[in-house]
Amino acid sequence: MQIKPFGVEMWMNEFETRCELNLAETCVDSMTLGELLDMAGQRATVLDALLPMRLGYGDIEGSARLRDAVAALYAKQARENVLVCHGTIGANALVHQALVSRGDHVIAVVPTYQQHYSIPESIGAEVELLRLREEHSFLPDLAALKAMLRPTTKLIAINNPNNPTGSLMDQAMLSEIAGLARGVGAWILCDEVYRGTDQTGDGYTASMADLYEQGISTAGMSKAYSLAGLRLGWIVAPKPMLEAAMIHRDYNTISVGCIDDYLAALALENRDKVLTRAHRITRDNLGILAGWVEGEKRIGWVKPKSGTTALLKYDLPMTSRDFCLALLEQEGVMLCPGSAMDMEGTVRIGYACGTEVLEQGLARISRFLARKGNR
Ligand SMILES: Cc1ncc(COP(=O)(O)O)c(C=O)c1O
Repeated sequence: MQIKPFGVEMWMNEFETRCELNLAETCVDSMTLGELLDMAGQRATVLDALLPMRLGYGDIEGSARLRDAVAALYAKQARENVLVCHGTIGANALVHQALVSRGDHVIAVVPTYQQHYSIPESIGAEVELLRLREEHSFLPDLAALKAMLRPTTKLIAINNPNNPTGSLMDQAMLSEIAGLARGVGAWILCDEVYRGTDQTGDGYTASMADLYEQGISTAGMSKAYSLAGLRLGWIVAPKPMLEAAMIHRDYNTISVGCIDDYLAALALENRDKVLTRAHRITRDNLGILAGWVEGEKRIGWVKPKSGTTALLKYDLPMTSRDFCLALLEQEGVMLCPGSAMDMEGTVRIGYACGTEVLEQGLARISRFLARKGNR
């Protein structure tokens, strides 16, 4: 099967272990196992749970304990609506494989995680891109979406909160999109891996799976829950959709690791503490980033409302890849070039790293920009 190379992941693979300060990362600064166990009050007792664990395939669809903890993140979902997968990346891939066939009409927002347009394209679908534009604060233009819809549209793939822009569709907008999809009987896949990181309130915005009878939400442990190393995600959807996904999952997953499943359940059961830490990082750090953007004449943005990333527009006569390579070489700081996500003229910054890393990284970027001279 032919598929386009995954721009962002290739960039990350090439440089993330070679930079000094990683401001390209999209996870909330990952926790250690010790931090998680301390939050859960299990440091002294965890082996009592782990030692008797048989390291077989475990519960094929995910443990009941984990699926209940995931269902509790949603307003209207039960255990039977949750299918545990290998990361959100595995969850997304399964949804596309299960729903999309050659010749289907698929609409995907751009920019977003490349899976959402390159996988359906590789299957042979007709993929139309709905551009998120700066002048609309990187929110979808619903009139444009309406004009794109056909009676045969199979799937609309959206991403809320959005990577890379940090834009956030509220419940009213999600419901409007559901209404449009309902009109043509299309499925909506909403990649919600950043759900829980809103800058205000408890961090959560409504989930598409709760708003639409053909709504599918994917998410996982990597971002808000700060545990990317568990490689654990899920699909939340109506049961028949999960049954269709299971047919493919039997070929490429079997089950996730049972220790990962156990630790994910522990983290979600202690979600308040995990999120208190995550919100401290995302909210303090966005404040720092906002102050920096304000003072940098060559940098512009739409300030994120959620997520862990921001798209920075720069006023320099160079491609985003050259910008990022020069910054890496001269200052050891890693950003992600907009070209890797079809947004030339911009760079993506991940600001949910440790606060010191962010501060040092921004100071070095300022030094780099200063060498380019004042405007
Ligand atoms: C929008 C989006 N979806 C999915 C993923 C993959 O997440 P996971 O680590 O849970 O597989 C990412 C990772 O950056 C992402 O940004």
